[in-house]
Amino acid sequence: MARCLVTGAAGFIGRSIAAELLTRGESVRGIDNLLTGKRENLAGLEAMEFLAADLTDPAACARACAGVDTIFHEAALASVPRSVQDPLSSNRNCVDATLNLLLAARDAGVRRIIYAGSSSAYGDTPTLPKHEEMTPNPISPYAAAKLACEHYMRSFARLYGLETVVLRYFNVFGPYQDPGSPYSGVLAVFCQRMLAGEQPTIYGDGLQSRDFTYIDNVVEANLLSAAAPADKITGRVMNVATGTRITLNETFAILRELTGYRGEAAYAPPRTGDIHDSLADIRLARELLGYQPCVDFREGLRRTVDWYRKGA
Ligand code: UD1
Repeated sequence: MARCLVTGAAGFIGRSIAAELLTRGESVRGIDNLLTGKRENLAGLEAMEFLAADLTDPAACARACAGVDTIFHEAALASVPRSVQDPLSSNRNCVDATLNLLLAARDAGVRRIIYAGSSSAYGDTPTLPKHEEMTPNPISPYAAAKLACEHYMRSFARLYGLETVVLRYFNVFGPYQDPGSPYSGVLAVFCQRMLAGEQPTIYGDGLQSRDFTYIDNVVEANLLSAAAPADKITGRVMNVATGTRITLNETFAILRELTGYRGEAAYAPPRTGDIHDSLADIRLARELLGYQPCVDFREGLRRTVDWYRKGA
């Protein structure tokens, strides 16, 4: 019987968490509806029990939760622009899915759920860095959906005694992030295009900034959350990031060095629903979890470019 359940296990973040859990000798079950997750991401995870099923199906949630102690809930339909185009799908795959999972977890006696929140919850507030005490101000349907799930986490902690914890991820990147969709994260897209000698497009003037967070930091925060004493983390929301930010223009310049791409970037109008700047205050995760970013932006980007280069 699996002790850990990873949702979205065939996706970028889920597969990375599952891989580390297996390395640490945990028994792992994964679930993924393969809408944006990919079967090929399961390579190397053969020791994981895998369910190709959808969290919007309560029976699938019940099967997934049976016998489980801790859930790492990474499944979602990521992307701000996708949610602007299709808010209903975004809601179904984030909110409906999460509520089904919570109900199944409660009924199966799961002890702890660690939820993948999003920095988009903060919205375009001028205050930087963003800290957890700030009033959320979601702009996109994606941000609203991810935030709604945070509230469900807290509600289930208070009402049903589930140990829920929310990690608000800031622009995660690294190996296994899908570069091939119009909704892919910017660094995955840029790495792939620039390695192929194709021109990347910067939406806006490139002065927007992000606290880009390498995947290993996110995996580490999840494992720390799984191990933390319940009274420290239950019902809490924590930023998971690096506490530094960089503009897209600067990022493009570093990627030119790393990829050998010699061209310029194309510029196009800013995307609707985008926020301009994002930077995390990571003191709370440090205090409650002992979290410390283990891989900085440049090193993370170097490893990421290497990974895409090998894949190409
Ligand atoms: C947002 C959330 C993030 C969430 C992610 C899920 C914020 C601050 N972050 O990321 O927490 O996990 O959605 O999808 O809200 N861009 C280009 N060219 C491209 C692609 C993107 O210039 O080809 C630009 C975008 O316009 C944006 C920036 O790069 O300004 C980052 O975009 P993206 O990688 O999609 O992430 P966010 O929308 O910031």
